[in-house]
Amino acid sequence: MPTISPAAWEHSQTVSAHISRLIGESGGVLPFDKYMEHVLYAPGLGYYAAGAVKLGPAGDFVTAPETGLLFGQCLADEVADILGHMPNAAILEFGAGSGRLAEVLIQTLAALNRLPSRYIIIELSPDLRDRQQRTLAALADKVGVPIEWRDQMPEPGVEAVVIANEVLDAFPVTRFRVEKDGVRHAGVREKEQGFSWDWSSPILSQGPEFDVARRFSLAEGYETENSPRAMAWVRMLGELLTRGVVLIIDYGYPEEEYFLPDRHKGTLRCHYRHHAHDDPFVLMGIQDITCHVNFSAVAQAARRSGFEILGYTSQEAYLLALGLLDKASHASTDDDRAQLLLASEVKRLVLPSQMGEAFKVMGLGKNWSADLNGFGLRDRSHRL
Ligand SMILES: C[S@@+](CC[C@H](N)C(=O)[O-])C[C@H]1O[C@@H](n2cnc3c(N)ncnc32)[C@H](O)[C@@H]1O
Repeated sequence: MPTISPAAWEHSQTVSAHISRLIGESGGVLPFDKYMEHVLYAPGLGYYAAGAVKLGPAGDFVTAPETGLLFGQCLADEVADILGHMPNAAILEFGAGSGRLAEVLIQTLAALNRLPSRYIIIELSPDLRDRQQRTLAALADKVGVPIEWRDQMPEPGVEAVVIANEVLDAFPVTRFRVEKDGVRHAGVREKEQGFSWDWSSPILSQGPEFDVARRFSLAEGYETENSPRAMAWVRMLGELLTRGVVLIIDYGYPEEEYFLPDRHKGTLRCHYRHHAHDDPFVLMGIQDITCHVNFSAVAQAARRSGFEILGYTSQEAYLLALGLLDKASHASTDDDRAQLLLASEVKRLVLPSQMGEAFKVMGLGKNWSADLNGFGLRDRSHRL
């Protein structure tokens, strides 16, 4: 495990005291989704709400927009096409991270003369919002696109292209275990030193987790996660949008793969300084906790919310269909170092051993009839 600075250590102790208080107030056990919500988002304390570096080489993980320009340029081509059908639409980006994707999108769309009517960023993290404002203020003035920041959904009645890159994996999840006669939700309790899983909640023989356990014949002892908040998010988008397209990019699987027998410990992962592990009860408030996305569940929630599935594919197939290789060859240079960085950017985005296969792209359309170019090479919607 990488070393921890004294300030980070002190912060994690403060978060730990906060959790300890919450557990006391909840009668000794805190539901896991509440725990995850607090360690990630409690104001002034949580990982996303208390100023940790998070993204990039000095942070804990690197997202696609942080690798260079190509990811954003490919996405901009898709968005430009969508805005061609809906010229008054807004772009609505959830969890914009450092603001890098918004920056590349706005620059590229300005060059293509296809700017949105406004760019709305929904960001829960105060320090990421500051960072985004620093990155984007001058650009917004220069190209003349209004950028609005919000910490919750706008009012219904919006036409928009919605973008969520690595956002759904950051939603707090419930965790459950299959028992002989049903399923049990995980909680968190204190132990002599620190915290641990608690499995004392009542056994449930109905509900979405029970249905999953039965449908996939999950063996006794199987542990996995469910993300009711991802479903609620899709439902809210259904209420919000009069017309539009939603692009979800994240790591995840269709349900047949999500609930494979081998994946019997679920998909919960923690990230600290580019080191991945599976203990959510350490480094509280200074490490990221994430969970893979069940894209079949997202698709079901989307269909019930008035969306059509426009496509589902790997990040590799999506970016190649949007001309990643042409863009890379265009950006080619005689500068050896720049060329090396470009090659490693391409590899990172598309190689199956890197982000190419683990990351998926899903397109949802509401009152939408045009095809999306990104799904032109390979569409795996039939596997959802
Ligand atoms: C892993 S980061 C990804 C950042 C950025 N999209 C990127 O790709 O670099 C997750 C982001 O999602 C944000 N987030 C989490 N839950 C959210 C929600 N319900 N609404 C909006 N943003 C959210 C976090 O604050 C953070 O900015």
